[in-house]
Amino acid sequence: MLNFTYENTTRIHFGEGQIQALEKEIPKTAKVLMIYGGGSIHHNGVYDQVKDALKTHTVYEFSGVEPNPTYDTLMKAQSLIRDHQIDYLLAVGGGSVVDGTKFIAAAACYEDEDPWDIVKNNAIVHAALPIGAVLTLPATGTESNVVSVVTRGESKLSFASAHVRPQFAVLDPKVTLSLSERQISNGVVDAFIHVIEQYLTYPVNAKVQDRFAEGLMQTLIEEGPKVLDPVSKDDLVVRSNIMWSATQALSGLIGVGVPQDWTTHLIGHELTAAHGIDHARTLSIVLPAVMKVCREAKREKLLQYAARVWDIQEGDEDTRINHAIQKTELFFQNMRVPVRLSDVGLGEQAIDPMLQKLESHGMTALGEKGEFDLAVCRNILQEAL
Ligand code: NZQ
Ligand code: ZN
Repeated sequence: MLNFTYENTTRIHFGEGQIQALEKEIPKTAKVLMIYGGGSIHHNGVYDQVKDALKTHTVYEFSGVEPNPTYDTLMKAQSLIRDHQIDYLLAVGGGSVVDGTKFIAAAACYEDEDPWDIVKNNAIVHAALPIGAVLTLPATGTESNVVSVVTRGESKLSFASAHVRPQFAVLDPKVTLSLSERQISNGVVDAFIHVIEQYLTYPVNAKVQDRFAEGLMQTLIEEGPKVLDPVSKDDLVVRSNIMWSATQALSGLIGVGVPQDWTTHLIGHELTAAHGIDHARTLSIVLPAVMKVCREAKREKLLQYAARVWDIQEGDEDTRINHAIQKTELFFQNMRVPVRLSDVGLGEQAIDPMLQKLESHGMTALGEKGEFDLAVCRNILQEAL
């Protein structure tokens, strides 16, 4: 196991009715900016629950944060913050709203000229407004981590800072019942691939992280298809298990002391920026190709994944790895997400522009050892056709 320092300070309020916890979580003297997306919270009762919990607080609102939140939209919140001397941000929505709130929080305290530098040039975030989150879509893990992904034009980039980790997060599985089939399915797949990106590298004998990761993957494999089955789709136990898996998949815990490889996400972000494909659906296309092209670098962990996650014991090493990759693709197909570029109408002509974007964003040494260069990325995209 590698050395690490671990901290996760987000207080989690999990379960039905927990939105009420907002009343005690946010200081009574705070001037709160409630930040949300395109309006789903008006239709599923979440808006009313939040307003009710905060009825004795001073609350302003900023709405319209879009999926894959954009710099231009997020910067519009800054004048509201200045005009009303806002000192607390409450994100109410999915990963995009929480990520957007993180950027707004950091930008509000950024003293140099252009807050985009935080994202583009990794400018250090010295301070941010405090954040709380009411999560409505289990997927990203952003509700208890330090990462935010922001889009500007065709650049979809991330930044990380301990200052933007939410102080608390409310996870009420009941609010996920209004998600469309597509969104809940995206969430399961995104969470699964977060686990993979922190697991499928090379072994360092980190038994706790490995077994925790394998347990999360098995839970998502078991519970995921149930949310697409009319008989079990509204089962709150299923929703709870998915929601907690998604949080733990990217809360930081399974990623400490182990090598990580975010190749699938980094290529996936380019696909979203260039072609508008949902985040999770880019990942389900790229991951099987990464498994195939990078199988030598990942051989030992692929074998462990085959044995422990899919219980594949028969055949020689390559047969077991092939079988595990097939099982992974089948799982994604059962979750009704695409597994090839052709499934989303993209062909060979999409590859060169993608490689140019990766290069312009400095993504030329990916992988757990920085060994996946643009030639490897080309092979991955070819394999994904
Ligand atoms: O905007 P509203 O009207 O709220 O609708 C949203 C949106 O259209 C809707 N939705 C959310 N909760 C709902 C609901 N509809 C009905 N009922 C509910 N309970 O779902 C749509 C998608 O929401 P979005 O927030 O975009 O989805 P998700 O949570 O998957 O977030 C995706 C973003 O997170 C980033 C992605 O790149 C993408 O920008 N990620 C952030 C990470 C992080 N911070 O650690 C890691 C991830 O890998 C990921 O990159
Ligand atoms: Zn993701």
